[in-house]
Amino acid sequence: MMKTIFVWDIPVRLFHWSLATSIAMLFITAQIGGNAMEWHKKIGYFVIGLILFRVVWGFVGSYHARFKNFVRTPTTVIAYAKNLFKKESPHYVGHNPMGALSVLALIAAVGFQTATGLFSNDDIMLEGPYVSMVSKAFSDQMTRLHQLNSNVILVLIGLHLSAIVFYAVFKKEQLIEAMLTGKKEVNSSIGGHFEAEMTEKARPVWLPWLIVIAVGGIVYALVTRVIF
Ligand code: HEM
Ligand code: HEM
Repeated sequence: MMKTIFVWDIPVRLFHWSLATSIAMLFITAQIGGNAMEWHKKIGYFVIGLILFRVVWGFVGSYHARFKNFVRTPTTVIAYAKNLFKKESPHYVGHNPMGALSVLALIAAVGFQTATGLFSNDDIMLEGPYVSMVSKAFSDQMTRLHQLNSNVILVLIGLHLSAIVFYAVFKKEQLIEAMLTGKKEVNSSIGGHFEAEMTEKARPVWLPWLIVIAVGGIVYALVTRVIF
């Protein structure tokens, strides 16, 4: 029997598509250079906010948004990986155990990218807000890491998109649709633990807004160097 389950809440979906758009724009502005780097900086700051938001939401968000409901032990990940090419392997409503790893890797890599960006310089006109606090050598080192890690992000995005195509073609699971609509059709006869998420009370509407305001303040303070 097919059952419709609510999987991705609005904050997760907004986070995701804003992140994907921002990352694309960051690579484009970095490619163009020159005046576009002013935008690179602003969009980069927005991404700091997105990442901070998602980390907080990973603790207080709805069922499938919470880290503890999708980050699994290495044993579970290995067991899942072994059955990956079997069509009848267990389905997960939220991120599957391997997907969870890629989620964490993407968030960590993007977070690291913004952190190095704050100390990067382009030897012409653009400097991250913390460049004046450190030596030129340190800033150059951070710039190199910023360049290197941008390739790591590209590889992770490549894996991310390949995995999604793999699930659509081989496993016949339409993951993109769920990330757009928030809903997923699952076969309840396969089994699973749908009860917890079905009975959980919805998050209060003010909660994501409160986090947005707090994170907005923190990012503002961070990039204008009010604190440090
Ligand atoms: C996730 C967010 C970010 C991504 C994906 C990203 C990506 C990139 C890429 C691909 C480049 C070109 C590297 C190259 O020349 O090979 C670049 C350069 C640069 N980025 Fe970012 N960036 C991000 C965030 C930031 C932030 C927050 C700042 C802070 C202001 C920043 C400052 C810079 C600077 C100064 C450069 C020029 C360095 C150079 O001359 O190569 N970036 N970034
Ligand atoms: C057009 C391009 C993209 C598509 C179609 C796409 C699609 C998806 C889908 C379907 C999921 C859910 C996977 C699941 O069911 O387990 C997902 C999750 C995720 N994607 Fe993407 N993605 C795209 C680009 C990106 C980019 C550029 C990034 C960041 C660099 C990214 C980062 C993430 C993250 C962090 C998650 C976890 C979401 C969460 O739990 O908050 N995605 N993506």
